[in-house]
Amino acid sequence: MPEVFVVPTLAVVGLGYVGLPIAVEAHRAGFSVRGYDTSQAVVDGLRAGRSHVGDISDDDVAALLAAGFAPSTDETVLDGADVVTVCVATPLTVQGVPDLGDVRTAARTVGRHLSRGSLVVLESTTYPGTTDGVFAPIIADVSGLKPGVDFHVAFSPERIDTGNPAYNLRNTPKVVGGLTEACSVVATEFYRRLCDEVVVATSSREAEMSKLIENTYRFVNIALVNEFATAASALGVDLWNAIGCAASKPFGFQAFYPGPGLGGHCIPSDPVYLAYQSRSVGRPLQLVEMARTVNDGMPAHVVARARQILHEAGRTTEGASVLLAGVSYKRDSADVTITPAEPIARLLRAAGATVCYSDPQVPAWSVDGEPVAYEPDLGGAAGRADLTILLQDHSGFDLDALPSQARLLLDTRGRLRHAHVPTLW
Ligand SMILES: NC(=O)c1ccc[n+]([C@@H]2O[C@H](COP(=O)([O-])OP(=O)(O)OC[C@H]3O[C@@H](n4cnc5c(N)ncnc54)[C@H](O)[C@@H]3O)[C@@H](O)[C@H]2O)c1
Repeated sequence: MPEVFVVPTLAVVGLGYVGLPIAVEAHRAGFSVRGYDTSQAVVDGLRAGRSHVGDISDDDVAALLAAGFAPSTDETVLDGADVVTVCVATPLTVQGVPDLGDVRTAARTVGRHLSRGSLVVLESTTYPGTTDGVFAPIIADVSGLKPGVDFHVAFSPERIDTGNPAYNLRNTPKVVGGLTEACSVVATEFYRRLCDEVVVATSSREAEMSKLIENTYRFVNIALVNEFATAASALGVDLWNAIGCAASKPFGFQAFYPGPGLGGHCIPSDPVYLAYQSRSVGRPLQLVEMARTVNDGMPAHVVARARQILHEAGRTTEGASVLLAGVSYKRDSADVTITPAEPIARLLRAAGATVCYSDPQVPAWSVDGEPVAYEPDLGGAAGRADLTILLQDHSGFDLDALPSQARLLLDTRGRLRHAHVPTLW
């Protein structure tokens, strides 16, 4: 068992939704924190004291800056760090497959500034085998140091749930898996300072897989209720009520609800990482791939439903004005990352509709580089639009009033079905 060293200096690579909260929590835990990001805009904003991350306040950033945190696009800030956490994005390419470009670039950067004896942790969500098969070898190649011998390497998935008032980095158990047992020990020691509970996996692959299990579980269950919804009206069932009844079971069931499509940083892409890697090793995950087909088809389904409602009212989609109510991917959030509102707006435009939107959280929004007209007053705009589509039930919306204000209304969240508003099916 190696000696567990004291870790006074942390360098965070990638200061986004995951990296910035780690920087803040590490500062609170007594670390000297440095930050490196390739985006000048991110660095300039933080240097000016502005947080771009929902759960981190400007006051949190001010406290970091006051303690000497100097976010930078200069990679030499990594020099001499005891711990480096890599928190860069792991999106999909336009072809819909994993894009590890930022992880590879960050690994090369870390390799150029690595200190012997330090700990490097990958926090970006990815498929099993990335840390030991991609990340660590690049760092080793660039630095000339041997992982697990000259420096420690681990994977620790982030579970941050922006906007969740109950759970944060500190009180959410943190899974850690090292390349070697010694790597796990050192990584566990580091995270014990930031989190109340650390759960130790037996390998980095196990830790990588644990994150994908969590999010694939959500992905598949959302697909399941989306598919149920296609059958519900033919079966003469109000699916939302039926799910509510099922959820009264105090064990063995967790409720998921249908909607207009997946969004956000994790759920739409993480299961694709797992399915991609499984397929590449000759073990395709048919259930996951089928769930992807169902979930990816939801925006087109919403638009087909919109066309149907317009048609039944004697209107064509071409030339119609359509108001999207709520465009962020999450309720009461300003985040439009991979929001299903985007393909819905694109498909409506392609069908000849004029699209506008109302969202108290999102004052400006573009699709394919073309701004979408903003309507600050939902009720007034719903009275002018040929059709209003409720995509996100923000608490700032007066939903009780909407059915009488809108000329035509489609509710993708099941919130207005008791007012006999058409739903997904
Ligand atoms: N956002 C979430 O809620 C969440 C939750 C759990 C896990 N994750 C995962 O965490 C990872 C990071 O997600 P995020 O939401 O924080 O992404 P993000 O886009 O908010 O932040 C990533 C940051 O990394 C910077 N960056 C890109 N390449 C870089 C490089 N080579 N060197 C330094 N900086 C670089 C970008 O400029 C950006 O500021 C992803 O794998 C994501 O799937 C995200």
